[in-house]
Amino acid sequence: MDDKYMLMIPGPTPVPERVLLAQANHPIGHRTAAFSEVIAEVTENLNWLHQTENNVLTLTASGTGAMEAGIVNFLSPGDHVLVGCNGKFSDRWAEMSEAFGLNVERITAEWGQPLDPEQFREKLEADTNKQIKAAIVTHSETSTGVLNDLETINRHVKNHGQCLIIVDAVTSLGALNLPIDRWGLDVVASGSQKGYMVPPGLGFVAVSEKAWEAYETAKLPRYYLDLGMYRKATEKNSTPFTPPINLMFGLQTSLRMMRAEGLENIFARHQRVTKATREAIRALGLSLLAPDDAASTAVTAISSENVEANRIRSVMQKQFDIELAGGQNQLKGKIFRIGHLGFVSDRDLLTTISSLELTLRELGHESMTPGAGAAAASRVFAQS
Ligand SMILES: Cc1ncc(COP(=O)(O)O)c(C=O)c1O
Repeated sequence: MDDKYMLMIPGPTPVPERVLLAQANHPIGHRTAAFSEVIAEVTENLNWLHQTENNVLTLTASGTGAMEAGIVNFLSPGDHVLVGCNGKFSDRWAEMSEAFGLNVERITAEWGQPLDPEQFREKLEADTNKQIKAAIVTHSETSTGVLNDLETINRHVKNHGQCLIIVDAVTSLGALNLPIDRWGLDVVASGSQKGYMVPPGLGFVAVSEKAWEAYETAKLPRYYLDLGMYRKATEKNSTPFTPPINLMFGLQTSLRMMRAEGLENIFARHQRVTKATREAIRALGLSLLAPDDAASTAVTAISSENVEANRIRSVMQKQFDIELAGGQNQLKGKIFRIGHLGFVSDRDLLTTISSLELTLRELGHESMTPGAGAAAASRVFAQS
């Protein structure tokens, strides 16, 4: 049957019809008063979503572009940076930092495990000469479904005093509480195709006053991603370059929807769906990669000893029109991932779990009670 496609990957995420329709409007001139009004509203709502009074700047870029802006604007060649590495996206920070000639020290954890904040504390406390310029952390590591303990790592960074904290919040912004001002996060990068419920194409960077001070002396080359230009333009409800007007219409609508739902409700919905997913997966006799106390509320990574992960994805796609994500790098073929981020409801998850059970049965995974997955998820929904 056509048009029953379900996107259950950790980005791009499903887009509400209201957002799609807003994007279907004819573009307007980006130097007009009407578009300035769009920017003004979007900027105010981005500050609300980020829980910050810092500048939140919008770029025409995917999440990686926002990450790159987070490096080139605040650091200089040879700067010593600590990078937490426990998955594909956190590794990307290290690769990117090396590409820009930074002196990268990796703090690693096995894929599927969270970073150990103690290792950050030791390095930062030992740095009495204040050579470490930034600690770079991926909050929700999408490749493994692991949530890193950003709050504790950030506390150690704050005790250091001078070091910036630079955060990839690509799959945590809008999926769990990230109080930027309360925690004092310096640079926070994210992208539209995740918790924002907008198609890919917009990147966001929140920048603290302390980061702006570093900007003044940072020497890495920058031009299109020079955030100073974005700050100036945004203060005048404008953009330095031609923005993707129609994505901005979509973002305006999605932010209104998020405000109507409320931050607490958005976070609670993500938590509920995450818990239901994990309970259902256990009930189906499959394994969860991330431990319970470090589970991302955006994505759950799953392995099965009996059934090859990509065969599961293939049957889910062909038979039920449900797209699941695969494993990346060394986890390719070993895990599959259910995205439950953004515009995802209890109903979407129940449908996914029931379809997964039928898929597993077809692939010969017999060791489950019929309906066990949906029953486990329903129990979570009934309680919350
Ligand atoms: C945690 C994380 N960081 C960075 C990225 C890269 O974002 P993009 O593909 O939008 O460049 C992703 C994309 O999935 C991600 O999940």
